[in-house]
Amino acid sequence: MDLKSEIIPEKLPKHIAIIMDGNGRWAKQHGKPRVFGHRNGVKAVRETTEAAAELGVSYLTLYAFSTENWKRPKLEVGALMRLLVETLHKEINTLNKNNIKLQAIGDISLLPKETHSALLKGIENTKNNTRMTLILALNYSGKWDIAQATKQLAKQVQEGVISPEDIDEERLAQSLSTSKIPDPELLIRTSGERRISNFLLWQLAYSELYFSPVFWPDFRKDQFYQAIIDYQNRERRFGKISEQLV
Ligand code: IPE
Ligand code: IPE
Ligand code: MG
Repeated sequence: MDLKSEIIPEKLPKHIAIIMDGNGRWAKQHGKPRVFGHRNGVKAVRETTEAAAELGVSYLTLYAFSTENWKRPKLEVGALMRLLVETLHKEINTLNKNNIKLQAIGDISLLPKETHSALLKGIENTKNNTRMTLILALNYSGKWDIAQATKQLAKQVQEGVISPEDIDEERLAQSLSTSKIPDPELLIRTSGERRISNFLLWQLAYSELYFSPVFWPDFRKDQFYQAIIDYQNRERRFGKISEQLV
């Protein structure tokens, strides 16, 4: 059965966010060091990005490195940062060929210099692409995002640009790193873990959550399609009751 053909184009999520998890356990299963798992996760990134663009998804956000991930062994953090540089260099042409724009959320200024500049270069070189936006969450956490938004608003109050009464949900959302991006309708987490791990806390308020048992390096187009089909079979009520939905 062709899963892709089961997807209803009219009900396609505009924005899908993914917590790419399970690289380390995948490597362990193969009797290899954790970094081997991260390297093999790149293929899943490529496949998922391609699948999303082919379907017509507008935004795909991938959680690649959390603020908490700095606590990992130095060797692993270093390897991840180098893998990012390598992957960015390799994939920018493909992104351009596929008309995909690269963006990042998170405190990226704190990334190692090489990673930071490879990222900025990738963003600059793909900025005119229009088919889909691929957003990498790097040194990102939901709490960081809300805190930095609050800081911006506090400054605006201090400078007299706005008054405290002007602060509402809309304004706060506009100060988040995702201000120009609609909230994700669907969040996918791989590897069987069922938690948010400080990802897009504000933005996931009404997202549908889908947990796949598959480790990230084994995630392929079919698993992605499966998540979308599952999402399309849900009833999103947003506080209303079934009978009120058209
Ligand atoms: C996700 O896989 C990748 C990153 C967090 C960078 P993990 O490295 O968390 O893999 P597990 O969860 O240990 O298996
Ligand atoms: C979340 O995965 C972060 C990324 C996928 C980048 P982790 O593997 O770090 O999450 P926890 O710590 O197990 O919840
Ligand atoms: Mg993990």
